[in-house]
Amino acid sequence: METLLNAAANQLRAARHVAVLTGAGTSAESGIPTFREAQTGLWARYRPEDLATPGAFARQPEVVWSWYAWRRELVQRAEPNAGHRALVGLARRVPLLTLITQNVDGLHQRAGSEAVIELHGNILRTVCSACGRLADTGHADSPPPRCPTCGGILRPDVVWFGEPLPRVALEAAVAAVQSADVLLVVGTSGLVEPAASLPRLALARGASVIEVNPVATPLSAAATLVLKGTAGEILPRLLALMDSE
Ligand code: OAD
Repeated sequence: METLLNAAANQLRAARHVAVLTGAGTSAESGIPTFREAQTGLWARYRPEDLATPGAFARQPEVVWSWYAWRRELVQRAEPNAGHRALVGLARRVPLLTLITQNVDGLHQRAGSEAVIELHGNILRTVCSACGRLADTGHADSPPPRCPTCGGILRPDVVWFGEPLPRVALEAAVAAVQSADVLLVVGTSGLVEPAASLPRLALARGASVIEVNPVATPLSAAATLVLKGTAGEILPRLLALMDSE
């Protein structure tokens, strides 16, 4: 493991442009359950895949809104962890770093990361499903609340299964991955497209792909280096190694 960590630290130290792709695992140590983990309590009988869809929202807007209200509360109570903070430190140690996240919790920004590319939106923003205007999250006796401008139903400003990713964010992510010499992939199962194809793009260009995850993923076999462990444990160790010597 030490050898792998050293190799990764050396690659990061030598890089001109580091791109980082993060997923739900990066926020796991902040107490936010990953997408594919069992839901707890009230929501145990629902699968996120069945709630985070336009169809579910059309059929049962109140259920989907309440689920997001619950997740939003979790996010607001959570704090960035050592992994988020290490990525802020990494940005200071390389000439250029682009942070791309699939997370909707805003914890990278709260840790201090700048210019974060949010591929799946942000749960703390609310948008009108009819006119597209951003709105206050609002409180309604019978959720979901209505748009103050057009009366449409408000929804969280996140990407649901079957919906396209925000074009500007996706283009920025692809451009970053195409110019980076190292892509660091942290805490993502690599199952959801198109984010899952970014590591393949980097590999095809000959860039190094370093994966940080406690378990093997579909990317592991192809990755240049696999660092088995949690984001909160591995990323600070990488920084320490970059600083040594
Ligand atoms: P997943 O829940 O699919 O995967 C989380 C990954 O994090 C798994 O591979 C875990 O092994 C890993 N993991 C768990 N704890 C970790 C830790 N402490 N440190 C590092 N890794 C850890 O989440 P994502 O890959 O982010 O999309 O899922 C991608 C997208 O699928 C989500 O953004 C969401 C979902 O559909 C939308 O909502 C559009």
